[in-house]
Amino acid sequence: MRSEELLNNINLLKKYHHNLVYDYTEYPTKGVWDEEMASKDYGDALVDWTTTNQTAPVLFYTHTPFCEQLCYFCLCSKDITLDYERVKHYLYNYLFKEIDLLIALYDKHNLKLNVEEIYFGGGSPTYYQEPEFQALIDKLKKLFDFNKVKTFTVEIDPRRVEVDRLKFYHDCGANRLSFGVQDFDPDVQVRINRKQPPELLHKLMTPEIRKLFPVINFDLLIGMPSQTPKSIAQTIKHVVDLEPDQIQTMYMHYKPDTRSYMVRMVQDGPLPDFYDRKALFVGAADQLMDAGYTRAGFESFAKPNDILANAIDNSKATYNSLGTVTAEALNFVAVGSSAHGALGDDYYFQNYYEHNLYQEALDKGEFPVYRGMKLSVEDKLRRDVIKEIRTYFKLDFSLIGTKHNINFKQHFEKELETIKEFERDQLVIVQENRLDLTELGKHFSPQICSVFDAYLERPLYNDAITTSADGVTG
Ligand SMILES: C[S@@+](CC[C@H](N)C(=O)[O-])C[C@H]1O[C@@H](n2cnc3c(N)ncnc32)[C@H](O)[C@@H]1O
Ligand code: SF4
Repeated sequence: MRSEELLNNINLLKKYHHNLVYDYTEYPTKGVWDEEMASKDYGDALVDWTTTNQTAPVLFYTHTPFCEQLCYFCLCSKDITLDYERVKHYLYNYLFKEIDLLIALYDKHNLKLNVEEIYFGGGSPTYYQEPEFQALIDKLKKLFDFNKVKTFTVEIDPRRVEVDRLKFYHDCGANRLSFGVQDFDPDVQVRINRKQPPELLHKLMTPEIRKLFPVINFDLLIGMPSQTPKSIAQTIKHVVDLEPDQIQTMYMHYKPDTRSYMVRMVQDGPLPDFYDRKALFVGAADQLMDAGYTRAGFESFAKPNDILANAIDNSKATYNSLGTVTAEALNFVAVGSSAHGALGDDYYFQNYYEHNLYQEALDKGEFPVYRGMKLSVEDKLRRDVIKEIRTYFKLDFSLIGTKHNINFKQHFEKELETIKEFERDQLVIVQENRLDLTELGKHFSPQICSVFDAYLERPLYNDAITTSADGVTG
């Protein structure tokens, strides 16, 4: 995809971005999950699902909701504190309680969690000092067998670790690091309150660390204050020099209604608008691909021989809340405040965000479940369709039809009618038995997914805006 193509189509952006669009890390989206789902429902679902899926690989996620310093762009669920006693209190008195509930449940039913992947996210799991991190590992070893774990990722705030700490993570079994990089430009870093020069990463990514961690990922954010095509180009140059194996770029979501501190980013000028953001993204994407990275999903890039790139080639990847992943484990069991899990395509669950509610439930001996969902047959079908589009930018009608025992074209007659507008705008190509997103359409994959979202009750595009398909160029 070359930049000019998108830049010539500004009206397309206006037309399809007139409303908030979900990024479809899960379907149905969290807003429609049931808040009546409670601790018992979660316990029953875990037993029900594990009993029938004893050998299915599970990804175990732990959430650490603390950071030392606030990044103004951050949407993650975390508290900012310098009080380590609070972090220890959360770990020893609450997270451990939640894990103990799982241990008791699995023991009672004589079941085992088949964990093949571990993910420590946050917030900042790097906040735990070594004794606490070790205690957490020891606790988890009581819940599942670490010998079966193939991938163990720790999210790393590069400002808070030294090489020795990374080696310690390796000794604990970790083999994948995901660094929060975001942007290397000094002006951007001032405006997001996060100073971390590229030298910091160079210091950490020694040959020894590269050897201990076969996969290193960088998170980058697009759409931050003061980002320009020139500054992004310089950031990507530093990234390419550092040679991460995987890169997850993400558009920065701006939600000052829920995170009021985000307005601090606009004190000295506006954020890039949606048009600028697309231009920043395509510039970064072009540069990464010119440097030899493969596009591995919507916003992800990987070295051509990386396992993620191979997973994409072999149709074994998927897009979810961790970005585009190798899909070794699609079943998430998650602990910690705000953490959410997915049991196959059967159930979703999420814990309370608020610490007081999270703690109150655990004090009562209950799972701290905030909301959840048991997927209907129709939900599962649409989830599959959306995942396919979001991960691979295409849809094979007979494959989906056979898998779900439906006549695709009859079942989705209304959707295939709606998609004609997207086809007119050259975002998709629809053939007898398949749908493919064009290079241009890949930028609109969330909007294309929304055609198949049965819960959306608002218009998918603004039909008052003319596009080049109407004979008017943007
Ligand atoms: C928990 S942080 C990464 C680990 C560590 N806390 C750090 O910052 O280095 C997880 C990721 O969420 C993403 N994220 C945070 N705020 C975001 C926003 N407003 N929009 C999109 N992604 C965001 C960032 O890419 C960030 O790296
Ligand atoms: S980006 Fe990371 S370090 Fe910054 S506030 Fe968010 S979770 Fe904490």
